[in-house]
Amino acid sequence: MQTLHVDLGTRSYPIHIGPKLLQNPELLHPHIQGQEVLVVTNDTIAPLYLEQTLALLEGYDVGTVILPDGEQYKTLDTLNLVFDALLEKHFTRRCTLIALGGGVIGDITGFAAASYQRGVNFIQIPTTLLAQVDSSVGGKTGVNHALGKNMIGAFHQPQCVIADTDTLNTLDDRQLSAGLAEIIKYGLINDPALFAWLEENMTELLSRNSNALMYAIEQSCRDKADIVAADEKESGVRALLNLGHTFGHAIETGTGYGTWLHGEAVGCGMLMAAELSFQHNWISKTELDRTANIIKQAKLPFTPPTSMNSTQFLDIMSVDKKNIEKKIRLVLLKGIGKSFISDDFDNALLQDLLNSKLDSNPAQQG
Ligand SMILES: NC(=O)c1ccc[n+]([C@@H]2O[C@H](COP(=O)([O-])OP(=O)(O)OC[C@H]3O[C@@H](n4cnc5c(N)ncnc54)[C@H](O)[C@@H]3O)[C@@H](O)[C@H]2O)c1
Ligand SMILES: [Zn+2]
Repeated sequence: MQTLHVDLGTRSYPIHIGPKLLQNPELLHPHIQGQEVLVVTNDTIAPLYLEQTLALLEGYDVGTVILPDGEQYKTLDTLNLVFDALLEKHFTRRCTLIALGGGVIGDITGFAAASYQRGVNFIQIPTTLLAQVDSSVGGKTGVNHALGKNMIGAFHQPQCVIADTDTLNTLDDRQLSAGLAEIIKYGLINDPALFAWLEENMTELLSRNSNALMYAIEQSCRDKADIVAADEKESGVRALLNLGHTFGHAIETGTGYGTWLHGEAVGCGMLMAAELSFQHNWISKTELDRTANIIKQAKLPFTPPTSMNSTQFLDIMSVDKKNIEKKIRLVLLKGIGKSFISDDFDNALLQDLLNSKLDSNPAQQG
């Protein structure tokens, strides 16, 4: 097992990473205050890991909430089911919520913990690769609104994160690749050594080699924890974590949520960001090719959906919440591991890129 620390003063917390962690109650107990614990999970994960999790909680006053599975349930209505359970059990401010699941469960549970009685403890037990390397770390919580994804939420840091790599064995291949996209992202943002390691070890990761997964998760959490420690509320450097996300968000919105997985859209979006950077001569052809290759090696889609056209794509990018005063802001590259935030790129090159990717498809014409 590896343990990292997210350094946020009084809100600092450990991240434990490794196999068999769901067999070790000692990781959990120090972070539970009082006796009241509510485990929040969904109907896919409950049959797989709920019993094992409850076995860690013997002696506590434990409730469980099993939510329906899916991003479409990341809503205020579903959040209310968590509050119902907390209130029906008369849980007090000293209760602890445990999120057992992927990013959807983590985000809902974290927001429930941020707002129940103005804030209670919570613990993340992330069970997808994406949640283990990204969503469980950093304290962003929330739900979607019909008019926008993640529009209602709060910053609320967990007491600890327990990433049991054994849980990844039941994850389907597409979900695994989607998580790899966020790992590749850390390499591109500021960790060229991780990127080079991924180029050598992608086969091991795809075959779910436990040591390889542990290493990749650890490095990713370390990179994310450093960025979060430097800029918890995203007023500066934390925005780098959005590499590939403005393009990716356009794909997710344009195709309808759920058609592309978030990580798939981000993978393709990172390649588009690299291509735009190359068009500006900010990265070399070799660096662009390395980026394309790693996306392909991770079995992620690398061309945007041909059902979209460039006008639609640009329209969605223009309303992205990261934009300040209507200028599109993008995370772009000056090298592998050298990212920067810019609204000062050449719009004509962006337009050319989108035209070449989206409007040259014969199916679009006529
Ligand atoms: N808070 C943040 O900083 C942050 C960062 C990135 C993403 N997110 C959010 O995370 C969500 C995406 O997370 P995700 O990719 O984990 O999706 P998810 O939570 O929907 O999980 C993906 C699927 O895998 C299933 N699953 C989970 N663990 C499993 C396991 N061990 N075995 C088998 N199946 C399993 C889930 O039930 C679901 O069907 C989005 O809502 C996104 O907005 C949040
Ligand atoms: Zn993401």
